Amino acid sequence: MDDRILLLALRGRDAEVIDQLLSGAGHHQQICHSLPDLAQQLVQGAGAVVVTEESLSTDERNPLYQWLERQEPWSDLPFVLLATKRIGKRSSLAKRMLETLGNFVVLERPIHGETLISAVNSALRVRKRQYVGRQHLANLKRAEETLIALNASLETRVDERTAERDRLWTLSEDMLARADYQGGLHSVSPAWTRILGYSEAELLTRPYSDIIHPDNVSDVVAALNSMRQTGQPTRFENKILAADETWKPIGWTVSPEKDGVHFIAIGRDLSSEKARETELARSQEQLRQAQKMEAVGQLTGGIAHDFNNLLQGITGSLEVVQRRVSNGRVDDLDRFISGAIGSANRAAALTHRLLAFSRRQPIDPKPIAANPLISSMEDLLRRTLGENIVLELRLADDLWPTLCDVNQLENAILNLVINARDAMPDGGALTVETANAPYVGQPGSRQSNEVTGDSIRISVIDTGSGMSPEVIDRAFDPFFTTKDVGEGTGLGLSVSYGIIKDHGGEIRVDSQIGQFTRFTIFLPYQRQPSGKRDSVTMK
Ligand SMILES: Nc1ncnc2c1ncn2[C@@H]1O[C@H](COP(=O)(O)OP(=O)(O)OP(=O)(O)O)[C@@H](O)[C@H]1O
Ligand SMILES: [Mg+2]
Repeated sequence: MDDRILLLALRGRDAEVIDQLLSGAGHHQQICHSLPDLAQQLVQGAGAVVVTEESLSTDERNPLYQWLERQEPWSDLPFVLLATKRIGKRSSLAKRMLETLGNFVVLERPIHGETLISAVNSALRVRKRQYVGRQHLANLKRAEETLIALNASLETRVDERTAERDRLWTLSEDMLARADYQGGLHSVSPAWTRILGYSEAELLTRPYSDIIHPDNVSDVVAALNSMRQTGQPTRFENKILAADETWKPIGWTVSPEKDGVHFIAIGRDLSSEKARETELARSQEQLRQAQKMEAVGQLTGGIAHDFNNLLQGITGSLEVVQRRVSNGRVDDLDRFISGAIGSANRAAALTHRLLAFSRRQPIDPKPIAANPLISSMEDLLRRTLGENIVLELRLADDLWPTLCDVNQLENAILNLVINARDAMPDGGALTVETANAPYVGQPGSRQSNEVTGDSIRISVIDTGSGMSPEVIDRAFDPFFTTKDVGEGTGLGLSVSYGIIKDHGGEIRVDSQIGQFTRFTIFLPYQRQPSGKRDSVTMK
């Protein structure tokens, strides 16, 4: 439709002749039968119009002129006008009518065929250029529309994102901030005011180091510096001064920005978490205390009974002594006096154990060499063991020093030796052995020992009754004993265990029923011989 020619020639055979001429030149044309017909065809598109002057109307309201008025901006439809042969000039009306056509060439009749064809050709060329313009405009318009649509969607997306971010920023329970390494806060979320009580303006104008606890400042600076260097986010905890002058524990996650100047910080108020922890620790302590009291309560009866037995041992012996003295029989009194002293000693030992168990004694650790300590106990141990038991000390030559409270360690070793003696009523051998126990870093290498560093070990080995797995399981429990009433309190191992644990050590047992029992104490290797850790006191 775009390159067809519309032809309007209403007089005689004009239309037919021109039609043939154009067809001969390879054009497509449509013959119109009236001005309204031409106007209607134009709506469907045309490359040019060939029209005879007399076919045009002088009425400006006719449909052709209306169509011309409404042409798109790119369009200026070319007309080839075949002038009417006339004598004299055109009327001004006729001139105006021609002007209304706009883009036209006038061919005066008679018309040479070639002239018409070349006029039509150039009209079509002009029209083609107009089509290029049309395409161009259309492209522009499409591009503009796409751009507008894109802008609109971008705007809504940005709006949505911003709203989302704003919501996060305002509603977050955590304190969000953008800050720099020089100590300035650039923006802070409302949570800051909710948690710390400062206004936003105060926070943004004060250096943040002002509100960090003096004890924490250097750690914070170190953490930020290393984050700046590594570019890796980091976490730390510190105390922050709130507007009401209290210190709030805050857990921070900070992450660097690429510019090397700023970072983002997210702070969580740990107050309630800490309070919960303290409360938990307190109730656990209460529970432990209650359990201890219950155990003590349950056993008080038993202990009172034991104690009574011991007292009876004392009073009974004393009564015999009294009776004999009044009867003048003073020979052989020794036996009864020794009996009374033995019972009194056992009673003293019992109270001592109970005291050790119920009290949390602070320890006074000092760097010591364990071998001389054990050697110095040799006499005491021999007396404890009696004549039926052979004592052997196997002490390593170059034993490392360790850090401990001498009295308490002696106490622990003595407990083990007494137990060993009790396990060998018919005699046997007892060996006390020391050795270095270098840490090899492999769990299980030392019977899943939990000491995680170089240690020394002190083993007490007997050839007594041995312990069944069930007894081993419970041996360290307070008040667990397999001994008869009055013989054992069941506190010996429990006290020893507490002592060794307090020293950061470990105590292990292995045994074979009827063969042997070996208790091994591990104590950490103390490298510095100085008393640097003198201040260490443990509960
Ligand atoms: N060397 C050992 N050989 C065999 N059994 C042992 C040995 N050491 C401890 N036991 C067992 O472990 C139990 C608990 O020992 P623990 O020292 O805690 O209490 P106790 O010796 O019975 O009483 P206490 O030490 O208060 O006089 C003992 O009763 C005994 O059954
Ligand atoms: Mg014991």
